[in-house]
Amino acid sequence: MILPDARPVQYSRTTITELMIPSYANFGGKIHGGILLSLIDKVAYACASKHAGNYCVTVSVNDVEFWQPVEVGDLVSLHASVNYVGRTSLVVGIKVIAENVKQGTVKHTNTCYVTMVAKGDDNKPTEVPELILETKDDVRRFIEAVRMRAIKRMVKEQLDDVKSTVEVAKAKEILKEERCRITYEI
Ligand SMILES: CC(C)(COP(=O)(O)OP(=O)(O)OC[C@H]1O[C@@H](n2cnc3c(N)ncnc32)[C@H](O)[C@@H]1OP(=O)(O)O)[C@@H](O)C(=O)NCCC(=O)NCCS
Repeated sequence: MILPDARPVQYSRTTITELMIPSYANFGGKIHGGILLSLIDKVAYACASKHAGNYCVTVSVNDVEFWQPVEVGDLVSLHASVNYVGRTSLVVGIKVIAENVKQGTVKHTNTCYVTMVAKGDDNKPTEVPELILETKDDVRRFIEAVRMRAIKRMVKEQLDDVKSTVEVAKAKEILKEERCRITYEI
């Protein structure tokens, strides 16, 4: 198939809805975080590959925080859209909603961002179509993604710096307020 140069956000917008069955629950009776992570990865793949017109792989998942528990019996919907495209990468934004159909209540449990990369038949990253921004929200999300990428790059540089400068020899001083015990002679 010949890929178009550009596709609108609307073209690949995807929703998955799944019933939370008892086998998804943890010992506390709430839904395992891993079940939701798997659904997030699935909807991100569906959305990204539709835009890309190619297989995609997950590179990173950002901002996964579960604000409220999801219950057995809830209907969970994951709304995904492409927020940003680079040359071969895409950022998919996913809003997760849990609905209790009996009580008629809806909880927004989290929003997260998955970076995917499109792969060609040679298994190498391949170019994706540009993104056509048709609404104010499309434009806002694209700008947010550009800024988030810049922040992520900065944080990564700082983390690399922290990792390369950890002073284990000064651990007693550095960790004196922390809840840990060092059981060997430094
Ligand atoms: C992600 C992957 C394709 C990058 O390959 P690479 O040879 O480094 O390719 P490139 O340097 O050309 O990068 C490709 C794109 O990935 C982006 N990228 C690479 N690492 C990234 C990261 N940590 N975070 C965000 N984007 C990243 C690059 O910015 C580039 O995007 P662009 O083309 O839009 O500018 C490669 O590392 C890979 O295949 N990883 C395994 C992914 C996978 O299998 N996931 C499933 C886990 S089971």
